[in-house]
Amino acid sequence: MQIQENISLKPYNTFGIKVQARYFVECFHIHDICDAIAFQKENKLPLLILGGGSNILFTKDFEGLVLKISLFGKKIIKEDENHLWLKVQAGENWNELVEYCVANNWGGIENLTLIPGTVGAAPMQNIGAYGVELQEVFECLEAFHIATGEIHRFDKKDCKFGYRESVFKNELKNQYIILAVTLKLFKNPILNYSYADVQKFLSEHHITPSVQSISEAVRQIRLAKLPNPAEIGNAGSFFKNPYVSKKHYEYLKRDYPNMPAYTLDENTYKVPAAWLIEQAGWKGYQEGDAGVHHKQPLVLINKGNAKGHEIWQLAQKIKKNVEAKFGVTLQTEVNIY
Ligand code: EPU
Repeated sequence: MQIQENISLKPYNTFGIKVQARYFVECFHIHDICDAIAFQKENKLPLLILGGGSNILFTKDFEGLVLKISLFGKKIIKEDENHLWLKVQAGENWNELVEYCVANNWGGIENLTLIPGTVGAAPMQNIGAYGVELQEVFECLEAFHIATGEIHRFDKKDCKFGYRESVFKNELKNQYIILAVTLKLFKNPILNYSYADVQKFLSEHHITPSVQSISEAVRQIRLAKLPNPAEIGNAGSFFKNPYVSKKHYEYLKRDYPNMPAYTLDENTYKVPAAWLIEQAGWKGYQEGDAGVHHKQPLVLINKGNAKGHEIWQLAQKIKKNVEAKFGVTLQTEVNIY
């Protein structure tokens, strides 16, 4: 284990923000993690656990220890006629895992194709896309308890998954380091192509739904709509899609009859934040190098040299404006440091 000093975090965050970490360490083994945590405790340093850096906005230098999780490997730990339990180390790239499963015709995560980030970060916010969330295939995870150095197992119910939520973002925030995740995959896949964009893609291209074709459909939809972080700095959706009450929904619908919304229960509606932001006039907006993507306004972008605080200020302006126009408060999906 090698602790480095004053390291640029630009290669480690998909927003491409130029900030520094006072200390930085890459952990390839569990004993690296133990040593790094001992150093962090000894020096009373703030700690930041980094996976793929694809859901984070740095607004300033990090005056502590950044611990990059680079634990690799995957293993089938159990199988029956219909299922397969795959244990995957936290540092594995999420999309490479999806491609591996799709190539083997193991169903369950094909809708989550091309989501940036690592396997260890996936349960943190219960990643989701195109009608599927991680929790649907999640079996359990192993995590390092920072305070005691013990390894604890979390089953699905322990993780308290919700829409872009888990216990690790809430009551257990900053207390655990996820080491490995076990997924329960399907050998006879149950396909989900209910999401309108996926359905449209398959029918327009006369494609029979399969694990492979759904993955390919999602890949193409994402490539057409979402900026590639390798080319334009971004962290996917910056805000979550907000929930509104039935009363609020009906009030808005009177003024905006074309407003899209999804019913969650008889008193709750989910309104696309992308729609609210577009209606408020922000789609394609740019201020220096900080901007709002021209195809998907839920994605804030760094066109080159934007500072983290400039993107954060832009986000605040959008939030205030959406609040004033619609009375809806947008919540940040991305972690801010
Ligand atoms: N919309 C607009 N204008 C636009 C784009 C979208 O009005 O320019 C409206 C449309 O009504 C559209 C709706 O927003 O039907 C939904 O758009 P989209 O299908 O692109 O999805 P989203 O709700 O904006 C969510 C996730 C994405 C995920 C997609 C697909 C959140 C915060 N975001 O976006 O996840 O890929 O659905 O399932 O839930 C991420 O979390 O980083 C992410 C990219």
